[in-house]
Amino acid sequence: MDGESVMAAEMSLSKLDGRVPTDEPLLEVRDLRTYFETLEGTVRAVDGVSFTIYRGRTLGIVGESGCGKSVTAHSILRIVQRPGRIVGGEIIFHRRRQTAAGVVDEAIDLTRLDPFGREIRSIRGKEIAYIFQEPMASLSPVHTIGHQIIETIQIHENVSRDEARARAIEVCGQVGLPRPHEVIERYPHQLSGGQRQRAFIALALACRPSLLIADEPTTALDVTTEAQILELMKDLQRQYGMAIQFITHNLGVIAEMADDVVVMYLGRQVEQAPVDELFFNPRHPYTRALLRSIPRLGRKTRQRLESIRGMVPDPYSIPAGCAFRTRCPLYRPGVCDDPQWIEVGPNHWVRCNRAME
Ligand SMILES: Nc1ncnc2c1ncn2[C@@H]1O[C@H](COP(=O)(O)OP(=O)(O)O)[C@@H](O)[C@H]1O
Ligand SMILES: [Mg+2]
Repeated sequence: MDGESVMAAEMSLSKLDGRVPTDEPLLEVRDLRTYFETLEGTVRAVDGVSFTIYRGRTLGIVGESGCGKSVTAHSILRIVQRPGRIVGGEIIFHRRRQTAAGVVDEAIDLTRLDPFGREIRSIRGKEIAYIFQEPMASLSPVHTIGHQIIETIQIHENVSRDEARARAIEVCGQVGLPRPHEVIERYPHQLSGGQRQRAFIALALACRPSLLIADEPTTALDVTTEAQILELMKDLQRQYGMAIQFITHNLGVIAEMADDVVVMYLGRQVEQAPVDELFFNPRHPYTRALLRSIPRLGRKTRQRLESIRGMVPDPYSIPAGCAFRTRCPLYRPGVCDDPQWIEVGPNHWVRCNRAME
């Protein structure tokens, strides 16, 4: 077996768990475009991205730094920073609400909501929760962990402070924080990096979201803590049945976490497939290059990691036609001017005109 197949085999074994993924769409992103108009020009940070996140499943989004992963997440949460703006596309969220009359399903286009309005605020943090790389930037330094979790629960749900406090303690226990009734009295700076990320996850899960967006949640952690947090997220997904959008530049982490994968390059998706298929049968030259650059245990220390040749073009001057052409070993003038989004297998899509050769 070559390196890629070994990796895929290891991965399949680690994925034999009790999760119940579904085929029910929860969030459908269609031809999303989010641009930044700056004095130097337009950055097409997200330029026509489409994918579906299913209830109970994990969609991995992978690509090098600057390819538009975070801006995609910010677009869904409607927290894109100025001068960024969603200029096209739809983000359909299939909301399921418990009302007096029973369970009600409704589809809502998040791109049409006022980013500061009541409706997105009732969704963000409750039905769609998020965790980012650096919890210190998202947790308030001047409030205790407990205060922040209790407040989040009370903003979204009509429960008493005592009930909210009991839930805060319960969820801190679920994320593996020791002595949860004491931890909730602490401030973020009094916790270690790993504990802070656990507290941040507790905050995200306090209102039982149907979707958790995790943007590089373990990138700032050491490898042991990273492994623990990834395991924790899988456990919590099994318990809560939530969907996860897992964003990372690290394909090794994708192998651990994702059911389906979207590979992004310069604001566009270049390949999409179920995770085993992507690792066994990568079709885009960029995906192949990413796979070759994964560090692996047991690799001889003198053996250098292969890096992807060439530089990522500057975001103000993305080449016309295939954006990967400047670094692609298969590039051929005339053939690669207008790369098509081609289905090469069941649920396996690739944006490369040379993928079928
Ligand atoms: N405030 C901003 N102004 C201009 N460009 C931005 C801004 N924020 C992000 N971008 C650009 O959008 C692109 C995608 O960024 P991002 O989504 O953060 O990448 P990733 O998360 O994949 O590393 C990059 O080219 C980045 O420079
Ligand atoms: Mg990012």
